[in-house]
Amino acid sequence: MMLNVKKLHPLFVGEASGVDLGRPIDASTRDAINNAMDEYAVLVFRNQPLSQTQQVELAKAFGPLDIGLKRLKKQPDRMEHAELADISNVGEKGEAVGRDHRKLVSNIANQLWHSDSSFQKPPARYSMLAAVQVPTKGGDTEYVDLRAAYDALPDDTKAEIEGLEAEHYALHSRFMLGDTDYTEEQKNALPPVYWPLVRTHPGSKRKILFVGIHARAIKGWTSAEGRMLLMDLLEHATQPKFVYAHKWQPDDLVIWDNRCTLHRGRRFDVSQVRELRRATTLDVEEADLAPA
Ligand SMILES: [Fe+2]
Repeated sequence: MMLNVKKLHPLFVGEASGVDLGRPIDASTRDAINNAMDEYAVLVFRNQPLSQTQQVELAKAFGPLDIGLKRLKKQPDRMEHAELADISNVGEKGEAVGRDHRKLVSNIANQLWHSDSSFQKPPARYSMLAAVQVPTKGGDTEYVDLRAAYDALPDDTKAEIEGLEAEHYALHSRFMLGDTDYTEEQKNALPPVYWPLVRTHPGSKRKILFVGIHARAIKGWTSAEGRMLLMDLLEHATQPKFVYAHKWQPDDLVIWDNRCTLHRGRRFDVSQVRELRRATTLDVEEADLAPA
């Protein structure tokens, strides 16, 4: 099979075709997708109806899988596989859950700009989000390219932030939304991690501005000054000229590289069902996992 890619935004994002993602992925197809990911950072595949098992198998072809915040066991799980995240407002009976349901609060946190699992080590590499059911309007997912964001920084800002480290914490985005109902055990289950603000994207060797809502402090700075710098940088990285908005259709599968992009869901009418499923690979090299 032949992977074809059509660019959808001046800076990044491609619509990919020519591959049936429901079938086992051979090495050459995997390499072609990895190479396209290194260039485009986000790949949109249309008309790929995947079962939950097919989606997990597809993701496994690209690395070991992440279970993210599922380890906090905040809510019962509808998925057939622990490796799938239920990005939906759907209850046990397939209905749209009520406005005060826990699940909605958690999914609303996805509407803040972030890189999946940047609050843990290893973080996420690829997220693969499949659309099952989408609302009639709203609910887009937006992306920005952190390589383009870095390139566009003024030189003095580049110099200022070189060498700085940001603290990323899993529940910061939840706390910001007033969702503070966590036990001490849950709060401590995912201790903060530190990432340099300026990193190099391994696939393209380009520098990135690694910000996002999980970043809550700058190491060695006061909370106030650090948080303002992070807010300024996030505002810079998410200017409209950097944003690609994906309008979902059922059976879309979108893959993005969390090492060089941020994303957010957009608001929608929560009385309608929005049902997506995500599988996520961990950012580790196969060599790191081989038995010693
Ligand atoms: Fe996300």
